[in-house]
Amino acid sequence: MEELLKIEKISKTYPKKKEKIRALENVSFQMREGELVGLLGPNGAGKTTMVKIICGLVAPDEGEVRVAGYNPWKERSRALSKLSAVLEGNRNIYWPLTVRENLDFFAALKGENPGRVRGRIDDLISMLNLEDKVNVTARSLSRGMQQKLALAVALVVDVPVLILDEPTLGLDVESALEIREMLKNVVQEEKKTVLLTTHDMRLVRAVCPRVIIINQGQIVTDDRVDNLLRLFEVKSYRLNLGSQLTSEQELQLQEIENTVLHNERGNGVFIDINLERMENLYRVLDILRSSNALIESIERKDIDLEEVFLEIVGRRAANGKSGTAGRPV
Ligand SMILES: Nc1ncnc2c1ncn2[C@@H]1O[C@H](COP(=O)(O)OP(=O)(O)O)[C@@H](O)[C@H]1O
Ligand SMILES: [Mg+2]
Repeated sequence: MEELLKIEKISKTYPKKKEKIRALENVSFQMREGELVGLLGPNGAGKTTMVKIICGLVAPDEGEVRVAGYNPWKERSRALSKLSAVLEGNRNIYWPLTVRENLDFFAALKGENPGRVRGRIDDLISMLNLEDKVNVTARSLSRGMQQKLALAVALVVDVPVLILDEPTLGLDVESALEIREMLKNVVQEEKKTVLLTTHDMRLVRAVCPRVIIINQGQIVTDDRVDNLLRLFEVKSYRLNLGSQLTSEQELQLQEIENTVLHNERGNGVFIDINLERMENLYRVLDILRSSNALIESIERKDIDLEEVFLEIVGRRAANGKSGTAGRPV
C-alpha cells in the first residue's frame, strides 16, 4: 500500500532568549493509506510542532516531510491539496458565517464541484448532529459545536490525508463521542489517512490501532495499541475472600513478595497477587487452605492505556531527563 505520509529525520529548534529549545529531534515515521495513528505525548512534547511542519506552517531545521509524495514547504500547493487539518483554536472556520455558509464557503474556496458537495454537506451536518444549528453563526456555537464544525469544514473537501490537533480537548462528553464516531467512519468508509494528536486515551482506545508516543521531542514508542497493552500487562489477580483471616495467616501472607492484602471493613477481604512468579499463587493458596478459607471470586486485573502511557513517558523522565517541556540545547 502507498505511504501517504512520510516523516524523515525531522529536527526543529525554536530560539528562546540566549538558548534554543529543541522541540523535535530526529523524528521519523510513516503512515500508509487508510491508517489512523494517534500521536501522544505530554504537554510540550512537540506534537503541535510536528503537525505544523506537516501542514507546511513551520519549516523544519533538518529532515523532510512528504504528503502524498509532495514536500509541504517546497511544493506547498500540491502538498496542501492532499490534506486538510484542524489545528488548535478552530482556525479553519469563519465566525460571522453560519454553519451551512461556512461549509458552502470552504467547499467553493477549494474548488469543489457544487453538485458533489451538496450531498456531502448534508451528510456531514447530519453525522455531526448539527441539523438544528445550520443557520446559527459559528461565533454563537458552543465550543463542542465549533469543533464539530471545524471538523466538518476539514472533511468537506475530498482529500486523502486528515490531520487533527487535539480534536476533543476541552469538549463535553457528547461532542467528544460524536467526533469519535465521525473519525471511525472517516477511516472505515472513506479510507482516509488520519494523524491525530491527543491526550484523550478513550479516543485512542476507540479509534487508533497504532500510536506514536513522543516525549521531549523524540519518539519513544511506535507500536500497535494491542502490543503495548500486552507488553505492559502485569499478570495480576485479585482473590476475593468470603471469610476473615486469622492474624497468623495475615502475617504469613505479608511475607510473600508482590502480594498485597486488603482488609476493608464492610467490603470484605481481598488479596492481590502478582503472577510474575507463579509460586506466589501456590503459597497463597496453601495459606488459605490451612483454614479452609472461602474464595468467593478470582478476577484478573486489567491494565489500561493511560497506565501504559504514563509508564512509557515516566520511565524516560526517570532516566535522568526531567521536565516535560522541550529541552534547552
Ligand atoms: N513558536 C514557538 N516559539 C518558541 N518555542 C515554542 C514555539 N512553539 C512551541 N515551542 C516550544 O516547543 C516545545 C514543543 O511544543 P509543542 O509542539 O507545542 O508541544 P505539544 O503540542 O506536544 O504540547 C515546547 O517546549 C514549546 O514551549
Ligand atoms: Mg499541542
